[in-house]
Amino acid sequence: MQAVILSGGFGTRMRPLTYTTPKPLLPIMNKPLIQHVIDSLPESVDEVVLASNYKIELLREYFEEYDVKGKTIHVVDEPKPMGTGGAVKNVENYLDDTFFVINADIISSIDLEEYFKFFKSKEAIGAISAWEVDNPEEFGIFELDDMGRILRFEEKPNAWEAFSNTINAGHYILEPEVLDLIPSGEKVSMEREIFPQLIDKGFYGFKFSGHWIDCGRPTSFLEANKTLLKLHEKEHGVNHLIGEKSYVEGDLGDHVSIGMDCTLEECDISNSIILDGVEIDEGCVIEDTIIGYDVTVESGSSLKGCVVADAVIVDGDHTDEKLRGSD
Ligand code: GTP
Repeated sequence: MQAVILSGGFGTRMRPLTYTTPKPLLPIMNKPLIQHVIDSLPESVDEVVLASNYKIELLREYFEEYDVKGKTIHVVDEPKPMGTGGAVKNVENYLDDTFFVINADIISSIDLEEYFKFFKSKEAIGAISAWEVDNPEEFGIFELDDMGRILRFEEKPNAWEAFSNTINAGHYILEPEVLDLIPSGEKVSMEREIFPQLIDKGFYGFKFSGHWIDCGRPTSFLEANKTLLKLHEKEHGVNHLIGEKSYVEGDLGDHVSIGMDCTLEECDISNSIILDGVEIDEGCVIEDTIIGYDVTVESGSSLKGCVVADAVIVDGDHTDEKLRGSD
């Protein structure tokens, strides 16, 4: 079976980190987002097609080095970003039967094998994973009947028009006939242009429980890190992670992931992600912050709610800022 992973977006909300690293390769708990997604695929998926575009060479490099056991990875280029539907159409030559489509930036507890069984138990042309939220207007929403059939679907409605709290959680199962509905060579939104056409053809929603986080923005990226570290704590008794060859002086606060080759002097750090090669001098306060590769934070600095680009030298106090070396 094949799975298409949508991995070609610009990741603008994750700038400045995505100026140098495509969002699917940004790590949570020292593992790229896309690898979390691939690891969640069932064994029955033996071919993974990455529908890519932005910084594709870095994705290719990553998958040359990282061997996914039991699965063949195809990193496929889009001549230009084609939108979520156009991206799937662009890889149609790789698809010959029922297939998954998954966003590269979703961290969730969905059981894709159960989801596939659910799909096969219906006479369906397509299915969407379904999650309940309090703020449905930021997402695609849909209404389900008792059998899980989708009755209505609407992408990002106005708050007063939101008819349901059930949102599109970003994992689709589609029959190849859906490809015939997507025009070739055009930018097409799967959610806005194709899903409404599936409603009369057997379109289902699969609800699941546990956790679901769309890691599209820094706050949700940190939330995913926290959620996974809480699960890590249940197994290993600690809610932080320190990468190989990293040195940390003193105690770490809660929910901190530290990459490889980092040096952290005595400082106060919590709910943050530190990528590889970072140096943090003593007396710093780091909270709710993501620090890019090879950054130096000079002693006594304070970073709260910040995102720091790769290789920046940070000094002083910063709150809710995106820090770039050239600023
Ligand atoms: P923002 O610019 O911050 O909105 O991020 P994004 O570009 O990643 O867009 P969004 O978060 O809406 O994308 C959801 C998923 O679809 C991500 O996994 C993206 O990589 C992917 N995606 C979005 N647009 C395209 C596209 O045009 N082509 C491909 N191949 N993937 C896309």
